[in-house]
Amino acid sequence: MPTTTPSPPGSAAVLCGLAGWVPPRVVTNDELAARLDTDDAWIRTRTGIRSRHVAGPGQATSDLAVESGRLALRSAAGPPPDTVIVTTTTPDRPCPATAPLVAFRLGLSGAAAFDVGAVCTGFVYGLATAAGLIACGTARRVLLIGADTYSTIVDPLDRANAVIFGDGAGAVVLRAGEPDEPGAVGHFDLGSDGAHEDLITVAAGGSRRRGTAGEPSRTERHFAMRGKEVYRHAVTRMATSARASLGQAGLQTADLDHFVPHQANLRILHSVADDLGLPRERCVANVDAVGNTGAASIPLALADAARRGCLQAGDRLLLTAFGGGLTWGSCLLTWPAHAPCPQPERTTP
Ligand code: UT7
Repeated sequence: MPTTTPSPPGSAAVLCGLAGWVPPRVVTNDELAARLDTDDAWIRTRTGIRSRHVAGPGQATSDLAVESGRLALRSAAGPPPDTVIVTTTTPDRPCPATAPLVAFRLGLSGAAAFDVGAVCTGFVYGLATAAGLIACGTARRVLLIGADTYSTIVDPLDRANAVIFGDGAGAVVLRAGEPDEPGAVGHFDLGSDGAHEDLITVAAGGSRRRGTAGEPSRTERHFAMRGKEVYRHAVTRMATSARASLGQAGLQTADLDHFVPHQANLRILHSVADDLGLPRERCVANVDAVGNTGAASIPLALADAARRGCLQAGDRLLLTAFGGGLTWGSCLLTWPAHAPCPQPERTTP
């Protein structure tokens, strides 16, 4: 579904705050290899991942979201947000949404607060939602948080998925501003293909799988992914979506300073960059240190790149995501003059 960001004065969403947060516990490939039939060489070669962070006992998605949200708010000068969006595949509970609790814990009671679900594409869908609310004047300032605790849904004995996923949260603050000012987000491309909804699933826990046939099995309760098929879709859909965003803006790949893809697997990121004809060094990647963190992966990668000083004012960034649904999405962002990223309290290794 191609979308065009409206551009009357004062109606663009402009990035003014950014932060990432990961739980302190680091799980290395060797630690996983001690309890699963896998090894560091397989994980690094097939995924590019060296380690990931995992939430502590009792630590829920909202806990991670609050940490990243607090840091993002601290990095952004200006009034408090009137809207809080949390995008996640691992909400604290099926009901209520996670965002109202996060808003309350951040001292933002009264703000509009709701969740967006688009699996690993959630952050780009959330950005589009925030931009739309700002464009129509319903919101003036939005806190958007991508947060996931995949460790709570991945079977720890499933070597295929346990090595890929990590827990984390990333947050941005968006304010109403001008479409041509640095920090503005736009030229969204969003899409889905529900014919392939079975490629990435958690079978139980929703309205489809009720208790009539007894308790859900171990398999039904856990995250399942048909990795090879997902891989192929991920490369194709991300490249196509990236081109669609560039096309809307009348830009070429060569006009990009940085490509910030969903951190699914380093091989996927490089394949997409190759497909686009983009030098791999322009591809922002932190999957080696955090794994695939779902809806958190793009803001975590952005925060990491900003903290390392890789992003300069005026740089042109393309964000592209892909996930279960299937869903995909892209948008463009010009890096703002005042880097909105403080030193995080906890850094990736
Ligand atoms: O965030 C949402 C989007 N997600 C993605 O984009 C993930 C997409 N998929 C992938 O990243 C890759 O498909 C995986 C990393 C999940 C798997 O890599 P692969 O190169 O596609 O491996 P494979 O599934 O084809 O498995 C190759 C072999 C199999 O053994 P046989 O059948 O060849 O004997 C697997 O059983 O590797 C085996 N294997 C493992 N071996 C050691 C699978 N997982 C592991 C493991 N350690 N952890």
